[in-house]
Order: sequence, then C-alpha cells, then structure tokens
Amino acid sequence: MKFSYPLAATTFGAEEIEAAKAVLDSNQFTMGECVKRFEAEFAAWVGAKHALMVNSGSSSNLLMVDAMIRRSKGNAPWKKGDEVLVPALAWPTTVWPLVQLGLVPVYVDVDPKTLAIDLESARSALTPKTKGMFLIHVLGQCADMAATLAFCRDHGISLLEDNCESLGANFDGTAAGNFGVMASYSCYYSHHISTMEGGMITTNDSELFDDLRSLRAHGWVRDRGDKTEWEAKYPELDPRFMFVLPGYNVRPLEISAAMGSVQLRKLDAMLDSREKLASEVAGWTKQFAPWMTLIGAEHLAAKDGGRRGRRHSWMTFPFRLDANAPIKVAKVKEIFETNGVDTRPVIAGNLARHPANLHAETRTANSLANCDALLERGFMIGCHPLVDPKGRAALESAFRALGKI
Ligand SMILES: Cc1ncc(COP(=O)(O)O)c(C=O)c1O
Repeated sequence: MKFSYPLAATTFGAEEIEAAKAVLDSNQFTMGECVKRFEAEFAAWVGAKHALMVNSGSSSNLLMVDAMIRRSKGNAPWKKGDEVLVPALAWPTTVWPLVQLGLVPVYVDVDPKTLAIDLESARSALTPKTKGMFLIHVLGQCADMAATLAFCRDHGISLLEDNCESLGANFDGTAAGNFGVMASYSCYYSHHISTMEGGMITTNDSELFDDLRSLRAHGWVRDRGDKTEWEAKYPELDPRFMFVLPGYNVRPLEISAAMGSVQLRKLDAMLDSREKLASEVAGWTKQFAPWMTLIGAEHLAAKDGGRRGRRHSWMTFPFRLDANAPIKVAKVKEIFETNGVDTRPVIAGNLARHPANLHAETRTANSLANCDALLERGFMIGCHPLVDPKGRAALESAFRALGKI
C-alpha cells in the first residue's frame, strides 16, 4: 500500500542535486574537500570543537565505542568486560558495538516522558563494573542533562551520547551532543538532515579526534593533527604508510558531504516546520483522541530562546495510549493506515527482547515496564518538514476518524 503520509519523505531539492552533480564532474569522489567543509560547518552548527564524518550513524557509534577502549595516547576510559548502561528503548546499532567490542550492555528502563534512560532504573542496575552510559536522545527530545550529568559524575561513569535522532534539540541553551565525551549523529534518509547515508561524530577532545580520524580510515596516521610526532617516533617507517590504531574503513563519500552542506543550510527552516506540524498534531490529538499522549508535547509551549531554547526537534511523532483507552493500539494503527498514514513501533519497543541478544552477554535491570508499555501501547508516525497538502489531509482525516470512536 502506498501511503500519502509515509514515515519519511525526501527533503532534497534542486540545490542538493546540483551539488551532487558538481562532485560527479569533479573527479574527486572519496573523502576530500567537501567532507572537510561539511565537517567544519556541522561542528559550528552544533557548537562542538570537532566533527568527523563517516558513512553512517551506526559507524559513528562503532568508532566511538572503539575509541573508548583503545586510545593511542593516555589511558582508555573503558576496558573489555566493563558494563555500560543502555536504554532498552534503543536502536540496535547503539548497543551492538558494545557487544562486538567485548563490553557488557546493561539494559535499563526509560523515563515515560523523555523516553531516555530512567535514572532510578539505572541506579538499581549499578555494579562495581559499571563504567559507562550510552545515552540516546530519543526521536527529537533531549534527555534531562542536568540530572544525567550529575548521575554520571556521582558514579564515575563516562558518557557517550547517541544523538542520531535529535539533531537540533537542546538542554538549557546547549545543543544535545555537547554533554558527553563524544556524540553520534545519523544523516540517513529519514533523519533531520540527509546525505542519503552518512553519520557524524562530535567531540571537544582533540586527542580523541585524532584517534577517530585513524579509526575511520584503516588506522592511518595520515589525517592526524599529531602526524609529525608519530613520524619522529618511528623514523624507520614510510610516513605515508604508518598505522597507529587497528582501524576500519568507514569513510564517507564527497557526494554525501556536498549534499549535507546544502541540507545544513536548510536545517533551521526544516526544524521550524517540524515544530509547526507537531503543534497541529498535538492539537488534533487533544481534540480527537484525548485517550492517547503525543510524547514530548509539553515542550511545544516553550517559545523562548530561539533555536537553542528548544528541547525538542521532532524527528517523528511517538504516541502512547492510556491503559484504559477505548480501543487497542492495533486498531489505532489500522485507522491511521486506512487513511494513508504509515505507522511504526516506537523504535524497537524493548530491544532486550530481541533474539540477537542470544549472541551477546548482556544484563537487564529488574523491570523494563515503561519500555514494555511502549511495545504494547505505543506507536509512531512520521514528522515531515516538507509535508504536502495530500499528506497533511491524510493526517487530519486519520485523527478525525479517531474522533468517531
Ligand atoms: C538512535 C539511533 N542510533 C543509531 C542509528 C543508526 O543510524 P544509521 O541508520 O545512519 O546507521 C539510528 C538510526 O535510525 C538511530 O535511531
């Protein structure tokens, strides 16, 4: 079935296509000047010292975890066997790099309002082996960073932020992604900006940034800021072919970066239209389906502080039905879909329940009740910055149909 209002739609226009064509004409296809430019623009937009582009948000997560267990200088904050707190409401490739690199993910429950890690659940899961937290800012909403940072400080925990879903969200004037040791971002098709496939990492730690550069491209010394130090230390090696870390190849393409630069210029306007649609959807929910909650709607009231005053950047619209709602979630989804609106679970519901965990050493907090409630009574629909009249009409008619229940 083709939906008038799919989960995601392209935001590319003539400018992105022109930028892509210019790269094809240039004869420079893999990582080069376009990537460097996009990285500088992205770092400035987010307010971070460094940004590193890779080929996906999943690769960003992989590199960040690797850089936490292997530093070319100084001590690594994590070692194999350490436990890292993760939300059970997670995208799989936030958790799998921990498994792949010998760390132990500890699934904890999420806060019903922010959908990010619930700190009481996290506290109940602590052991002497807990050394990290891999936080996700969920579907556009920045987590409570005052409480999260205090928790990490009190328990000697190093924080990584997965900000793949929440570019443009802020907490008290600081953009999500600036609170942990590093943060990841996804530029996949359905995210706030798209480079077709692509990812970013931001950090303020220049030594770590050098390690990420090596990890991105085979472990090479080439792109590092401290290249000459390594050359002096290993004079017997050809400096063009020296490898500092056991790296990967997750390099991005020039074409992606060129399109990303155009998308970044449109980001503020796209965030504004996402928020405008969120206000409409919040209004329809109240009017036609008061027995379900648009999660995060309370942030729509905050109109102060410009872009940095926004806690929410609305990647999608996640809903949770009240326990005593007049119909089940399956029926609500059916009504949306027959009206042309595509639906999905809220991320993956509860990741701890998925069979891939049979291949991993994991631990789980005593209760994941809030995650289970999202699996049983939650769903989400897309949030389109460039919604067309047909899509908007489908959305409105779905809500009006719910009002007849
Ligand atoms: C929280 C989160 N982390 C990581 C990713 C992975 O990003 P990518 O699809 O670019 O690999 C996603 C993708 O949707 C995500 O939602």
